[in-house]
Amino acid sequence: KIVPVIMAGGRGTRLWPLSRAAAPKQFIRFIGDRTLFQNTLARVSDSATYEPAIVVTNEEFRFLVAEQAREVESDLSSIVLEPVARNTAAAIAAAALVAATLFGESAIIQVLASDHEIAVDERYLRANLTALAAADEGKLVTFGITPTEPATGYGYIEVGEILPSGAHAVKRFIEKPVSGVAVEMLATGGYCWNSGMFMFAVPVLLEELQAYAVEVLEAAKLAVAGALKDLDFLRLDRGAFEKSPNISIDYAIMEKTAKAAVVPSTFRWSDLGSWDSVWKIGTQDEDDNVASANTTLVGTRSSLIMSHGPHLVVSGLENVVAIASEDAVYVGRMDDSQDVGKLVKHLEARA
Ligand code: GDD
Ligand code: MG
Repeated sequence: KIVPVIMAGGRGTRLWPLSRAAAPKQFIRFIGDRTLFQNTLARVSDSATYEPAIVVTNEEFRFLVAEQAREVESDLSSIVLEPVARNTAAAIAAAALVAATLFGESAIIQVLASDHEIAVDERYLRANLTALAAADEGKLVTFGITPTEPATGYGYIEVGEILPSGAHAVKRFIEKPVSGVAVEMLATGGYCWNSGMFMFAVPVLLEELQAYAVEVLEAAKLAVAGALKDLDFLRLDRGAFEKSPNISIDYAIMEKTAKAAVVPSTFRWSDLGSWDSVWKIGTQDEDDNVASANTTLVGTRSSLIMSHGPHLVVSGLENVVAIASEDAVYVGRMDDSQDVGKLVKHLEARA
């Protein structure tokens, strides 16, 4: 069976002010009654295919994780707590070591982000089977999505020849390109977005960490060896984990390894990373607006208007994002959505 590893420690600053330091986007109900994290749990709930998930998150979010898992009656095998954020390479290394202790040295893990919107259909299930076969062949497998626009918030993969498993070799991995490069790749063709979902055989992952990110691996090993079990939580040792470099799995391993493979697919996938992507995935009215409850729109078009706080009234605007939380309001242009993260850094620096 596959061991799901759900990464739920990111901060999602581009969705400010609904996504906050204390409750980042994966734990928020944007649209509908389930959070993105809960939807992720639902995708791995089939016990014929999956072991109970390992969730790896920051210590601060432990109650959100435990509570939201309980709400959807999801059994977890462990909630691994990071004392400090050291990015996804360290989080995945620690979770892989935990998976090996719980489910055996040769466990296969599926690494999932907790902040994606995915439609589970035939294409999704087929991609999973192919990825599993490729991981069995000793590949570090990523799920590739056929790009529809020159997005700069994603990693890109140049797709190589087909392998026996049906997955493809990776010619090149390009993490978060600048706009010109993204436009060029889309025009040339032969590239996928890196979905940030992976399938790894633990021994292969550990080998490649040893080869390309040994400091991350050493820190994770010591942090797991010194971890404290506390109810459902596994608290990684702070002194050890702190020493890990702060690097994503993409830069640490995927860009460097010769064992990368990609499963290109067209299942509906979105990293709800910024407000324009929330607008795209939402249900648009006849004026192309996506609006939440507690809002009123007058003569307004192509906009995203949401309130988790006061009644929000917007009149006579186009292509805007207006978001009210209980204690903050953000208004900006739809096409500046990628810059909200920078704005938050600026606000934090002033505070
Ligand atoms: N446990 C833990 N600890 N999780 C983390 C940490 C951490 O320190 N940092 C990030 N995460 C989680 C986030 O919550 C999210 O679920 C996932 O890891 C990916 O992190 P993001 O910060 O959202 O990455 P990204 O979106 O900028 O880029 C990655 O995903 C893109 C697709 O969504 C890369 O893999 C890109 O190549 C990819 O295209
Ligand atoms: Mg993301």
